[in-house]
Amino acid sequence: MGKFIVRGGRPLNGSVKIQGSKNAVLPIIAASLLNKGTCTLKNCPNLRDVNVAIEILNIIGAETTFSDHIIRTSCKQVKETVVPNHLATEMRSSIIFLGPMLARCKEISISYPGGCEIGPRPIDIHIKALKKMGAEIFFANEGILCCKAKELIGCEMNLDYPSVGATENIMLAAVYAKGRTIINNPAKEPEIISLQNFLKALGVSVYGAGSGRIVVEGCDEIDCDMEFDIIPDRIEAGTFMAAAAITEGDLVLENIIPGHIRPIILKMTEAGCQIQEEEDRLRIMAPKILKAVDIIRTSPYPGFPTDMQPQMTSILSVAQGTSIMIETVFDNRFGFSEELKKMSADIIIEGRTAVIKGVSELTGTYVKSKDLRGGAALILAGLKAKGETVVDGAVHIERGYDRIEDKLRSVGADIIKID
Ligand code: UD1
Repeated sequence: MGKFIVRGGRPLNGSVKIQGSKNAVLPIIAASLLNKGTCTLKNCPNLRDVNVAIEILNIIGAETTFSDHIIRTSCKQVKETVVPNHLATEMRSSIIFLGPMLARCKEISISYPGGCEIGPRPIDIHIKALKKMGAEIFFANEGILCCKAKELIGCEMNLDYPSVGATENIMLAAVYAKGRTIINNPAKEPEIISLQNFLKALGVSVYGAGSGRIVVEGCDEIDCDMEFDIIPDRIEAGTFMAAAAITEGDLVLENIIPGHIRPIILKMTEAGCQIQEEEDRLRIMAPKILKAVDIIRTSPYPGFPTDMQPQMTSILSVAQGTSIMIETVFDNRFGFSEELKKMSADIIIEGRTAVIKGVSELTGTYVKSKDLRGGAALILAGLKAKGETVVDGAVHIERGYDRIEDKLRSVGADIIKID
């Protein structure tokens, strides 16, 4: 496993182009299975999870190329309905193949994703909805999830929680269901709207994404050549804003949608940063000393994103005063804070709440990243810390950031990756 070596104390200055969104491209790669023609996806980030999703696609029967951030894929025929274990377990969101595979070939076997470092990842909402649409779902030996459906039938359903993955799976299953599917209380994230736009570009009649009700009309077959732009990654944008904030930096982020990062902009402003927005770019200027913020409560969009909680915790660890962070989405997302404490951060965790007392200095040391965003938070702390920080477990961070060390170096950071 590679490591990042960071030497702190350098303010970041300059401009960074934000990558295409990981969480938008993954369901779209899975959704491309619905099309017999060629999907050309532009602005795709070159990430481990994206490459695993492409491998799964190819095993199922697609032909795919990926270069210069463009994925071209077409699936004329499905050859395989069993997703190999090593791929399904490598990428947590492999479960997103359930909906499109059930729709396209009425069958899929895939290993159950299980728990992970940020807490259990149940899929009961996915299963309940797909069963309601007529799928038969059972567990075979060794945690393999088997799904079959003679026919999927559109229906109306209310989600118990606005799960992002479940909303995506239902939308994709609904494309080849008989009749109309209505999803009440769906996730409202920008990635859901982007998936709706992708389906519309395939000719599917779907509307309501971003609101409290999504409607999908089932169709018979999709066979078209199309092009689609992947939206900017709002979490990478937030992470670079945090990098500017923690280093007293001044960064311009290119290729962003300010509306997607509104809750992050508001909290960074509360912490004392000055932010200038334009249509697709933003400048963030950090103060000499950040201010604590009262309370941040993570919640589904448009609330403060859980995927920015660790990075925000890092910057608040050097803000003047005491901040409260409440994690409401995942059960166990403060694991990284134990590592942050090794760098002299003063953080007390009580259940789902972190009390973060700002310290005047972080100190570099050896820390271990165990999950994607927690790992990014440790790099941020390393950019501020006195001396050298070794962030082990680069593989987790690379699941979500395309060449993070090169991008940070291009704006003045002292960071390298070693194997
Ligand atoms: C997606 C994102 C992830 C982000 C999360 C929340 C992708 C690839 N990943 O994950 O980066 O952190 O949204 O914004 O897009 N839950 C259940 N039962 C279910 C499904 C979910 O209890 O059937 C719970 C989960 O355990 C979690 C919460 O609901 O506590 C949110 O999960 P969900 O919205 O489904 O997140 P993902 O789609 O897994």
